[in-house]
Amino acid sequence: MKYVFLEEVDSTNKYAKENLAKFEDKTVIYTSKQTAGRGRLERKWDFVGGENIYASIILKPGDKLKEVYSNLTQYLSVVISRAMESYGVVPGIKWPNDVLINGRKVSGILAESVLEKDKLAGIILGFGINLNCAENNLSKIDKPATSLNIELDKNIDRDSFLSELLNRFFLLYDRFIEEGFSLIKDEYMRRAVFLNNTITVRTFDKEVTGLAVGVTDKGALRLKEKNKELVFLAGDIL
Ligand code: BTN
Repeated sequence: MKYVFLEEVDSTNKYAKENLAKFEDKTVIYTSKQTAGRGRLERKWDFVGGENIYASIILKPGDKLKEVYSNLTQYLSVVISRAMESYGVVPGIKWPNDVLINGRKVSGILAESVLEKDKLAGIILGFGINLNCAENNLSKIDKPATSLNIELDKNIDRDSFLSELLNRFFLLYDRFIEEGFSLIKDEYMRRAVFLNNTITVRTFDKEVTGLAVGVTDKGALRLKEKNKELVFLAGDIL
């Protein structure tokens, strides 16, 4: 694993994408000032101060596309939850990969892949974690959000948190690629905060409301709408 620290950048994901060829597998780009952070589904990710985490892991697992790569964000959400739990909170996961504490978002993940002529050049696994936010910065975020320092009432050392997190991530990374979502399914389900709730799922082209009845062995969301069951591979719970 290699770390690359940037004082300031528009987006660590964008930077990783644009400079992908320069970096080897398992390089982590992180910054203290992200000026144009990107979120899922064309949203933005606000800058909420320098002592938070804005990072992208560059992965180059080979040039063949594998189904399991789409579950890497769920694996990362479990790893972030574990790391946070070791600090004394009990995080939950909102499908597919938001990490929440007491119903408020503390971390978001955005994966982007780079293809060159049908071949996989790399995967960029970007994540933002609210570690040390001031209350007034949190209120700028348009959805209920929290930060680890607020939950624990103490400051968190960013670099130690980041290195603990990445060590955990790479400890089981090879096994995850081999075994897929089943490696984390039990824990993911235990942390899932959306199950048995009536929810609205937004995909690129539609919104569907129904009862969240489960997650498949491949990490897809099972939603019961009237008498039929729908399965979502991608999307967002509103
Ligand atoms: C989401 O919840 O919508 C995903 C947010 C992902 C934010 C991170 S911050 C570091 C990396 N660089 C970006 O531009 N976005 C991700």
